[in-house]
Amino acid sequence: MSEDIKIAELRKNVKHFIAVLSGKGGVGKTTVAVNLSTALAENGYKVGLLDLDIHGPDVVRMLGGNAYPTMGEDERIVPALILPNLKALSISMLVEEGKPIIWRGPLKHTAIKQFLGDTDWGELDFLIFDLPPGTGDEALSLFQVLGTIDGVIIVTTPQKVALDDVRRAIAFVQTMNQRVLGVVENMSYMRCKDEIVYPFGTGGAELLAKEFNIPVLGKIPMDPKALELLDEGKPITLYYRESEIERAFRELAENVARAAEA
Ligand SMILES: Nc1ncnc2c1ncn2[C@@H]1O[C@H](COP(=O)(O)OP(=O)(O)O)[C@@H](O)[C@H]1O
Ligand SMILES: [Mg+2]
Repeated sequence: MSEDIKIAELRKNVKHFIAVLSGKGGVGKTTVAVNLSTALAENGYKVGLLDLDIHGPDVVRMLGGNAYPTMGEDERIVPALILPNLKALSISMLVEEGKPIIWRGPLKHTAIKQFLGDTDWGELDFLIFDLPPGTGDEALSLFQVLGTIDGVIIVTTPQKVALDDVRRAIAFVQTMNQRVLGVVENMSYMRCKDEIVYPFGTGGAELLAKEFNIPVLGKIPMDPKALELLDEGKPITLYYRESEIERAFRELAENVARAAEA
């Protein structure tokens, strides 16, 4: 089957393609991609999660590890089944643990083509992409292989210093003729007993929203217990019920579904 036919098939089977991007690392892209995916899956959507952070693939660790893809009869990759409604695929499932992945652009491009065209994703409502930070090869390859997607979610933290990098990421997405779905402000605030504190300041997301005329899709609090759970591979929406951060992810999932369907 030609590459174009494979991608056309994928586009026919998947209702919405959503990428998660940020200006820089460590702001919570993978956290957002994973918990958005579990929240959507719990809401009854069929979800796929593709880890496209080839050099820092963290999706599997945050999902609890030991899930493996298989090879289908037609020699296509069958993604690992995480929940009844959630499939995931990451390069970390295919290489030896702890080994660095030293790949240049063309090799990454080939891998991304296979993750899209040679993978049996089945019918999905959402295919979510966890990208590395910034404007590198992975996002370029994704847009090149898939064409126009439903939207890119930009993850940021509130401090103004981070904003220059975020602006570059947004400009990159727009230059690629892709739609920015909105911004998610992670580590927005922290609740200490009855007091709310703002370790990274406030106002960053609103500033961006106004500047680029894009919605704020969610504000996720900082929560040390959440960090522990994420480290243990326990998604917040499954293992930290009735918490403020869980509610924040559910609200984000609703906003993303609404924005994608609009
Ligand atoms: N809202 C949050 N509260 C507490 N810890 C968080 C939160 N968001 C992310 N983290 C932690 O911060 C670290 C970086 O997050 P990660 O999602 O890996 O960022 P990125 O993918 O952007 O590099 C991880 O250890 C994660 O568990
Ligand atoms: Mg990450």
